Amino acid sequence: MSRAREAERRARDVLDPVHFDFLAGGAGAERTLADNEAAFARRRLLPRVLRGAGAPDLSTTLLGAELAAPVVVAPTAFHRLAHPDGEVATAVGVAAAGGLMTLSMMATVAVEHVADVGVPLWFGLYLQPDRGFTAAVVARAQDAGCRALVVTADSPVRGRHTRDLAHGFRALPEGMVCENMRDADWRVRDLVVDADLTWDDVAWLRATTSLPVLVKGVLHPADARLAVGHGVDGVIVSNHGGRQLDGAVSTLDALPGVVDAVAGRVPVLLDGGVRSGTDALVALALGADAVMVGRPVLWGLALGGAAGVRAVLGDLADELAHALTLVGARRPGDLTPDLVVTP
Ligand code: FNR
Repeated sequence: MSRAREAERRARDVLDPVHFDFLAGGAGAERTLADNEAAFARRRLLPRVLRGAGAPDLSTTLLGAELAAPVVVAPTAFHRLAHPDGEVATAVGVAAAGGLMTLSMMATVAVEHVADVGVPLWFGLYLQPDRGFTAAVVARAQDAGCRALVVTADSPVRGRHTRDLAHGFRALPEGMVCENMRDADWRVRDLVVDADLTWDDVAWLRATTSLPVLVKGVLHPADARLAVGHGVDGVIVSNHGGRQLDGAVSTLDALPGVVDAVAGRVPVLLDGGVRSGTDALVALALGADAVMVGRPVLWGLALGGAAGVRAVLGDLADELAHALTLVGARRPGDLTPDLVVTP
């Protein structure tokens, strides 16, 4: 069992069961949630031998950020459900691992406090129908030091989370709010998901900010082409960890089509179901420039705060380095699609 999987098993024991289910669960029958992981389990590696690859080197540059490994923390809401220090503890752990964190707009700690940790930060943005408010949130994230915006594109409506519906879990407990949803009067706004969003809104954002913009939640190659056509700086193949459209294709199965469509013009990232260094290697070999991880980070956070996050990311990097050597490669960039087979 990979360390990330073991962390999930142990996190279940320490978390409130309702909160565990919020973090772990998915939409509908959780088919997509399961298939994200199953898609990795369907692949096998076809290693090369005697290539003299030498000691592995995972160092990666992504939109100007120097990373210890091609593994980025995906934006996830409500870290204070997992640990009292919430996103600050996550940031300390990510910084210790030499990583990069995407802070969700639905974070339970203000972006300024998270940025104080000094970790490279991206900001996970839900475009709001009130453009003035969106622009103010973007300005706040930029002023705090966030280096890119990750726009969530796969949420025109809220996903129907079966486990949350069963528990009646709908809101944060007393004393926790979405600190980055405050308006000019410092009141906390409710998140609005917006089925009227189009690529014009991405174009508007592109024109509003000098920060790099990545679009997260792309599965269809045509959307990947549109994203590049709208001047985005990165495409994230994601189905929101199976929390939005149940029945959507696994991200690993969608990856090659997106990689082809993007044709190297901007970085392509993948998230969903990455639970080991070997999983990361498979995604990298099939053309991802980096992977993102969501839930494993939350399990590390729940189990050991910053140290737990660092351990989960460190284990993923160790496993990736080991697997890299075993397939005969030195750097992630040496990986090629022929190393992956679907028996
Ligand atoms: C998410 N995800 C998410 N995505 C996003 O764009 N904005 C957000 O605020 C959230 N919040 C969130 C909360 C929780 C509890 C989870 C589990 C996920 C989706 C997330 O960024 C990512 O796409 C998936 O988590 C990746 O899948 P794995 O690694 O969890 O399998």
